[in-house]
Amino acid sequence: NSSYTWAGRFSEPMSDLVKRYTASVDFDQRLWRQDINGSLAHARMLAKQGIIAAADLADIEKGMAQIVEEIESGKFEWSLDLEDVHLNIEKRLTTLVGDAGKRLHTGRSRNDQVATDIRLWLRDTIDTIVELIKAFQTALLVLAEKEAATPMPGSTHLQVAQPVTFGHHLLAYFEMTQRDKERFLDCRKRVNRLPLGAAALAGTTYPIDREFVAAQLGFDGVCENSLDAVSDRDFGIEFCAAASLLMTHFSRLSEELVLWMNPRFGYVKIADRFCTGSSIMPQKKNPDVPELARGKTGRVNGSLISMLTLMKGQPLAYNKDNQEDKEPLFDAADTVIDTLRIFADMMGGIEARPERMRGALAEGFATATDLADYLVKKGLPFREAHEVVGAAVKAAETQGKDLADLTLAELQAFSPLVQSDVATCLTIEGSLAARNHIGGTAPEQVKAAIARAKARV
Ligand code: ARG
Repeated sequence: NSSYTWAGRFSEPMSDLVKRYTASVDFDQRLWRQDINGSLAHARMLAKQGIIAAADLADIEKGMAQIVEEIESGKFEWSLDLEDVHLNIEKRLTTLVGDAGKRLHTGRSRNDQVATDIRLWLRDTIDTIVELIKAFQTALLVLAEKEAATPMPGSTHLQVAQPVTFGHHLLAYFEMTQRDKERFLDCRKRVNRLPLGAAALAGTTYPIDREFVAAQLGFDGVCENSLDAVSDRDFGIEFCAAASLLMTHFSRLSEELVLWMNPRFGYVKIADRFCTGSSIMPQKKNPDVPELARGKTGRVNGSLISMLTLMKGQPLAYNKDNQEDKEPLFDAADTVIDTLRIFADMMGGIEARPERMRGALAEGFATATDLADYLVKKGLPFREAHEVVGAAVKAAETQGKDLADLTLAELQAFSPLVQSDVATCLTIEGSLAARNHIGGTAPEQVKAAIARAKARV
């Protein structure tokens, strides 16, 4: 009789091309565990409500246990003829246990089934990502602590601006990833709702117990509206948006690492295990990992745009467009997970080169603002101080000197307000120590910020 699932209504099977075009089993089979867990929760509810017999539930549980074994051991035969993960598993269950398998789909549709699977998968994925963000942050803080007082050039417009400590600079990424973590956790609240019970779109005529299924599967509650439950993928879009932002932060860090390890900067060394050589130029050590992270950010952004675009024209309720949610979601998640793993590891392979950072600071008149602030504290209005120091920088530049190299007499030629106490404010250490408030770069503040960050991981 029925060789394909809907043979009853059809007079010919679909063409091979259409089969290949519509099938998703090649990529959605990775939802198998969520699919089986969802089915078991559904079956237990059906039995509890007297919709199927206890014996049917026992058969379903036995059959599913065998299917788990078959999939785990690689013996399960996935078939394109059975379109997706749901029909593949259901068909196998029916082959194994007969009628009980055919009763499993009572009061359910693949529409609420797939939405449930995706939400279960995304919830676990978010939990994995959050743990990996924490692992990255922990590794970042180890490096930041080591370099809490190491002066480096802080930049604006990629030019030396003011001294900061390397630890302080790294802590900026702690804050960025902290917000990333919050975004994923916030998204999780909206992911963790149960669609099952919505059936195809309108709900079902059986006396189901959705709260029971939700509790079994660890959902915080049920989706309130059946049409919304089967059709919206906004939670997946939110996930991709959080993933894009996270990758944007790692892309910025990557760009910095590429510059910092460039011999012209030379601020850091990255352990060889994160670098690659050139097939032709024997001298090269290339920052492939940061470059790839920067590049892969584009692909995660692509996932976000795919998800937004696939949703925007869909009338309620379910449309097959939604099958296209999986590849971008999986790809974004895989990319984020790999990136986090590798960056957590790479933090331990970064070695600062303080002498190079100090050299760049000296060349960049990094304490010019400090000199202006000094004059303001002696009574000069800031705009005038700015001009005076500008002239001093210009003169020093002509002589090929740093501000700190000018003698007291030379400085006094620009302003009589300059006195011998100017020396401290022109040193890098003096400049750093002076920014002594919450969020500032004084080493003392950086150490306190690291202590607070450790408690926030
Ligand atoms: N493979 C489908 C998906 O990913 C499952 C739902 C199919 N439902 C349907 N009515 N065709 O969305």
